[in-house]
Amino acid sequence: MTSDDTVSASFKRAAAERAVDFIQPGMVVGLGTGSTAAHAVRRLGALLAAGTLKDVVGVPTSRATEALAASLGVPLTTLDVHPVVDLTIDGADEVAPDLSLIKGGGGALLREKVVAQASRREIIVVDAPKLSPRLGTKWPVPVEVLPFGWRSQALFLESLGARVVVRLALDGAPYHTDQGNVVLDCDFGPINDPAGLAAKLESRAGVMAHGLFLNLATDLVVAGPEGITHRV
Ligand code: 5RP
Repeated sequence: MTSDDTVSASFKRAAAERAVDFIQPGMVVGLGTGSTAAHAVRRLGALLAAGTLKDVVGVPTSRATEALAASLGVPLTTLDVHPVVDLTIDGADEVAPDLSLIKGGGGALLREKVVAQASRREIIVVDAPKLSPRLGTKWPVPVEVLPFGWRSQALFLESLGARVVVRLALDGAPYHTDQGNVVLDCDFGPINDPAGLAAKLESRAGVMAHGLFLNLATDLVVAGPEGITHRV
């Protein structure tokens, strides 16, 4: 780990822990995925263990988050039992000025979007380098596709102007999401019309989810060298 990584990790932690302050006793809380969201889960676990916060249940957005939360004794539930989530804390890969996002760097985009759409409040926690003037400037758009016919989806995405890379797991084999799907990381460059692109992606059978999160974030907590800011 470089010193830059250490600084970034401390900003991620600061943003995540600030967001945990918004959790009230009795809430159903969406638990995001990724290194930043994991700081929120750890903080929540510590507050519950200390008895400072009570009667909170979590809806994990991935198997990894489920395992982390369970290891910390955070009580878990599902959207079947609690179809409305009071507040979700999740990370993002890129954040535009209007709080539109690219998510899915950790491969949990489909469950993260399902939980975000079920949430009254979606608090996004990031370190400052993730702020961007326009989506697509810093990060490709992850597109989760059904394994059946995935090469056809790759051609479709290229026809929309993307440079497409199949995401690989650490062992070099194709990465599979918690749903068993393939992720195609699509570099569109800076995206002029995210809503138009989202509509095209959503019209395609075989595309199970995409990483454009538009009109879903209600709050943004950013930590950086200038301190922590909270925007709604
Ligand atoms: C997972 C995500 C993550 O929230 C996103 O990739 C940010 O990750 P990190 O907090 O590790 O930088 O969308 O699917």
